[in-house]
Amino acid sequence: MRPGRQAGGLGEVVFGLSRELELRGNAVEIILPKYDCLRYDQIEGLHVAYHDLPVPWYSGAVHCTVWSGFVHGRRCYFLDPHSSDQFFNRSHLYGSPDDVARFAFFSKAALEFLLKADKRPDVIHCHDWQTGLVPVLLFETYQQCGMHDQRVCYTIHNFSHQGITREHILWATGLTRPERFFDYDRLRDNFNHNAINLMKGGIVYSNFVTTVSPQYAWEVTYTDRGMGLAHTLHLHKEKFGGVLNGLDYGVWNPEVDEFIPARFGIDSIEQKYENKRTLRDRLMLGHAWKPIVCYVGRLDRQKGVHLIRHALFYALAQGAQFVLIGSSPDPSINAQFWDLKHQLNDNPDCHLEMSYDESLAHLIYAGADILVMPSLFEPCGLAQMIALKYGTVPVVRAVGGLVDTVFDRDHSSRPLHERNGFVFHQVDHMALESALARAIGLWHSHPEQFRDLALNGMRANHSWAPAGQDYLNIYGRIRNQ
Ligand code: GLC
Repeated sequence: MRPGRQAGGLGEVVFGLSRELELRGNAVEIILPKYDCLRYDQIEGLHVAYHDLPVPWYSGAVHCTVWSGFVHGRRCYFLDPHSSDQFFNRSHLYGSPDDVARFAFFSKAALEFLLKADKRPDVIHCHDWQTGLVPVLLFETYQQCGMHDQRVCYTIHNFSHQGITREHILWATGLTRPERFFDYDRLRDNFNHNAINLMKGGIVYSNFVTTVSPQYAWEVTYTDRGMGLAHTLHLHKEKFGGVLNGLDYGVWNPEVDEFIPARFGIDSIEQKYENKRTLRDRLMLGHAWKPIVCYVGRLDRQKGVHLIRHALFYALAQGAQFVLIGSSPDPSINAQFWDLKHQLNDNPDCHLEMSYDESLAHLIYAGADILVMPSLFEPCGLAQMIALKYGTVPVVRAVGGLVDTVFDRDHSSRPLHERNGFVFHQVDHMALESALARAIGLWHSHPEQFRDLALNGMRANHSWAPAGQDYLNIYGRIRNQ
């Protein structure tokens, strides 16, 4: 398992994209905080690469050790600050009251490391609000210290977390001219007039800004999904675009997947049935002539938890089985699903697994017939792309990356051979039911047509190759600026 995995999609993207860039002959190095909760068993050859890196912080300095090692072949540097704040020794990645300070420090320390270790990458590619200060600090401070030629590409995975905070963080990082930075053209939040917005800083200062699907790029610019940043995106629209994430087919590919008992591909989709049988045995589900509907992923509000719950009961009522694997960072959502699990404990058509088990997740994608993904919003989404590859037909809400990857069997304007799932629009039970009923109905009444739909999905190519090329084009464009 890759470290970063617990953080969800962002870790997958950094891993998949950096691998693709290296395959195309580029040198990639990754800088991360040295969290205490990393999977250290997955880091090869961890050693100290830089003994004492003093990072200016408020009026003093915090000394860091920089570690280095390889994770699945990629070189990573891990920044390890020594201070009583214990920034990265919290047994979790995010969710501390001082997150802004933790990641502002990380941004500053990363640049300080590049400077002192004489690393001069052509492009620094940073992600989400946590690194919004990187381009600000690069162009306001580090450029004058010898980093003239570096350019920044900034990728936003989710506009609902922006790093909105008070001015003190400017002082901490040495941006000590409030009249310049606490300005609407730079870091001042568009709506909260006493606050600064780190993501806004990232957008304003970067040479290019991307988000993780073309549809989400449109939504954040033209609807309230920009969460207050639409105006900033308008001002910077010349350097903003959506690049659909890829999927790592080295990991997510039923032809080579080591977690599943029966491998299969387009020419052997009937092998899926063997995986379905194993899945039922493993979860003690009944062996009946029924489709399996699944949900795989975090149980965040973003994912439409009330609709997931409704999908479960509706699927059971329609003569399907339902399998869920996931958990929530939100204790109340977790408790809700634990209740549900207890309530349905003896039901032979249903299983809820309230933790992330990698091998089970693979088996579910391989053995299920239908995946539901009723997200309220979805910047890109990985589960639907994995499901497509595993011949599991997605039933999704028409938002963000789901619009770019799933095309409705009955209502899409795409050619028939590209249609690969079922799509609904509204955020209510009836909308979900209309799509899920069509999926379950087709499985029962026209199994051969259902299989053709699954095959259409398996043929879609969401490898990292196109996204890798898009990012290389972006890097090429900003290097010449
Ligand atoms: C975030 C988004 C998700 C996206 C992932 C990777 O987790 O919520 O939609 O797939 O980032 O970009």
